[in-house]
Amino acid sequence: MTDWILRGGDVIDGSGRPRFRADIAIAGDHIAEVGAVGRSTGAREIDVSGKVVAPGFIDVHTHDDRALFATPEMAAKASQGVTTVVVGNCGISLAPLTLDDAPLPPLDLLGDAADYRYPHFADYFSNLDRNPAALNATCLVGHTTLRIGAMSALDRPAEPAEIAQMRELLQEALDAGAIGMSSGLAYAPAEHAPASEIEALAALLRPAGAIYTTHMRNEGDRVLDSLEESFAVGRTAGVPVVISHHKTIGRANFGRTAQTLPVIAAAIARQEIGLDAYPYIASSTVLSAGQAGRASKVMVTWSKRAPEQAGRDLSAIAADWGVGIDEAVERLQPAGAIYWTMDEPDVRRVLSFPHTMIGSDGLPHDFHPHPRLWGTFPRVLGHYCRDLGLFGLEEAVRRMTGLPAARFGLSGRGAVAAGAYADIAVFDPATVIDRASFEHPTTPAAGIEYVFVNGRPVWAEGKASGERPGRALRRQQLQAKAQ
Ligand code: ZN
Ligand code: CU
Repeated sequence: MTDWILRGGDVIDGSGRPRFRADIAIAGDHIAEVGAVGRSTGAREIDVSGKVVAPGFIDVHTHDDRALFATPEMAAKASQGVTTVVVGNCGISLAPLTLDDAPLPPLDLLGDAADYRYPHFADYFSNLDRNPAALNATCLVGHTTLRIGAMSALDRPAEPAEIAQMRELLQEALDAGAIGMSSGLAYAPAEHAPASEIEALAALLRPAGAIYTTHMRNEGDRVLDSLEESFAVGRTAGVPVVISHHKTIGRANFGRTAQTLPVIAAAIARQEIGLDAYPYIASSTVLSAGQAGRASKVMVTWSKRAPEQAGRDLSAIAADWGVGIDEAVERLQPAGAIYWTMDEPDVRRVLSFPHTMIGSDGLPHDFHPHPRLWGTFPRVLGHYCRDLGLFGLEEAVRRMTGLPAARFGLSGRGAVAAGAYADIAVFDPATVIDRASFEHPTTPAAGIEYVFVNGRPVWAEGKASGERPGRALRRQQLQAKAQ
């Protein structure tokens, strides 16, 4: 029985092929029909003429591990047309870990000690099953999370017994349904992990058909070395690698994506490599003096000790306090920040690269977050695609849907086709645009009209519906479906 009919829209199906006029019939959690759909008693009809009907967007780079529970309507993402989030990026996942003391940065981006309460990855999955969110989620295990659970000191490589324990935790997570492992080698708790430590863990990914994603050791002067290190993990372990939020940071490295992208293209010809990016010249993570020193401007996003400073410029805070930048950083800790570290032509070059997927890297618990949390997908569609003409709309949609679904093995997602899950974003191609700014970072985007997840509306007429049809997408189910 048909539940919904989306009548007369322009379908952009996620494969990259040109749009075509068609009706969509939704039955249960699936798309039943794409074409000329007749009337059907009991079906609710929506006139979507003049609008684009696309697969729901897949946010491949998120830190929504806890947001799925804390804000189950997931308005920051649903308002952008996102229907599936990949959590556990940059080496940090909520599971498997329990903590008594405050989490080390960058684990504090996800929550407090009490939020790290999943001794086994399966516990996190069962919590998702019991408390579904509006959106689907699929999960990576963080290498840094594994390290903190297994090691007595983090300022050195893991010892054999520690590697054995991390492998046990990782295998358990893969068995529970994780789709891969992420690393965050740029961050203090993981920077002393040599490539051999990563490779010893990544060896477990291949038999599971899992993936490796990495926030590389260096995105500045040594970015080429870090790319090679990442590719080598993929070759040694025989697994696909995703380079997270690709960029080249610091003034000295402006323009260097002209070097990195050909290197990535050459690697793609030899092995399975993917990459993601967000459409902004500023990055965001925990506050550190090192990162602040490389940025042309720094804005504080949250501070435990000086919460009233969120949204303010770091140098203005330092001036108010009559201290230097390093001292101000110290007094704000623990804290987060936005760093202006990129050059616009690099951002455009990376976005224009045909293999680049879109990932927000949004930080959902920041008090004054980077606008990428609420703006990434509409900004690519409206600003970079329509207004600047970097690529066509079919290509923009492909990079948000069909491409990531294939790379992350999300079978049945990322396509508008009969038989696919009814994860759908309906948007107005003439008006879609991000409205979140650095000053007002939580303003919902314009032009996203209807969002369906597993056949149920989660966002319509500018607000969340309150429905929670999202599912935890486990690796085994995805792989069984792909057979
Ligand atoms: Zn990262
Ligand atoms: Cu990240």
